[in-house]
Amino acid sequence: MSTTTHARRQVLAASEPAARDDRQASLREYVMCRPDHFTVAYAINPWMDPTRPVDTALAIDQWELLRAAYLSLGHRVHLLEPAAGLPDMVFAANGAFVVGDRALGARFREPVRTGEAPAHAGLLTALGIDVAAPTAVNEGEGDFAWAYGRVLAASGFRAEPAARAELAATFAVPVVPLELVDPRFYHLDVALAVLDERTVAYYPPAFSAESRAWILGQFPDAIEVGPADAMVLGLNCVSDGRHVVLAAQATELAGLLSERGFVPVPVDLSELLKAGGGVKCCTLELHRPVSPAHSDPLHPLGSAEGSIRTDLEI
Ligand code: ARG
Repeated sequence: MSTTTHARRQVLAASEPAARDDRQASLREYVMCRPDHFTVAYAINPWMDPTRPVDTALAIDQWELLRAAYLSLGHRVHLLEPAAGLPDMVFAANGAFVVGDRALGARFREPVRTGEAPAHAGLLTALGIDVAAPTAVNEGEGDFAWAYGRVLAASGFRAEPAARAELAATFAVPVVPLELVDPRFYHLDVALAVLDERTVAYYPPAFSAESRAWILGQFPDAIEVGPADAMVLGLNCVSDGRHVVLAAQATELAGLLSERGFVPVPVDLSELLKAGGGVKCCTLELHRPVSPAHSDPLHPLGSAEGSIRTDLEI
C-alpha cells in the first residue's frame, strides 16, 4: 500500500465506520429480460392476484431504471428477448444457474413457465456457456445462491431436493441444503441474499430451525431482516461486493447495509412485486470473470451494454 493510500485510510478510519473502506466492488455480468409482456395472468405464488390490475408500461419504466443502475455501476447486462405469452419471463434469475462457463438449465415447476427455459439455454449457449440439461425441477438462481465456492440450494416450494446432486455434478463444488417453510418466501432469493464472501442477509422465519442454525453457524455476521423489509422483498437484492441494489421500500435494510459499509442503491419495482418478484428475480448473474471477450450477440460491442468501466465508486 502506498504512503498516500495508507494516510487516506487512516483519515477514513477516523471519520467513517471501520468496514466502509474495505468493501470492494467487482464487475458483474447479468442477464435481464424486459417486461414487455409482463402481467399477472395466473397465481403460482401467494403474491399473485390476477384480478388486480397491472400497469405494464410502468413495469417497463421501473425495470429500465434497474438496468440503468447496473450500467451506471459499470456492470454488463445481456438482454434476453421477451416472448409473448410468458408474462413471468422478466424474472430472468429463474432461467439457469451459471458458474464459470457452465450452466445448469432450469426445469420450471409450473407449466405456465416451462417455455422460458429454452430461451435462456439459447442465449447462454450463444454466450459461450455449456448448458447441462436438468432432470429434477429447479428454477435457477431462484433457489440456488452462489456463495463463493459453494452453492446454497433451497427446497420446500419450487426446486426439488434431487436438483442438488445435479448442481454438484455440474459444477464440482459443495452444495449446502436449506429448507424454506413459509409459502410467501417460496424461493431462496426472496429470503436470503449473499452480499459478499462473509456476509449474508436473511429473514429467519422463512427457514426451518435446522437451516437457521446452519446459516448462523457459517455466517456469524449475518444481517437479520425483519418482516417489514422481508415483505417488500428487500432481500431480493443484488450485491457487487460494495453496492447493494435493493427495493426502495426496504428502508430499514438499507440502513443496516450502510452501517456495515455497503452502499445501498434503491430501485422501485412496485409493479413487479405484484407477481412476487423484485430486483434479484429480474437478474440472472453469470458467475464468471467479466472479460471484453464476453460480448453479447444480441447487443454487440458499441451499445451501452458492451461498455466496461473500472471506476466503480459512486
Ligand atoms: N411469478 C413468478 C413465479 O412465481 C415470480 C418469480 C420470482 N423469481 C425469483 N427469482 N424469486 O414463478
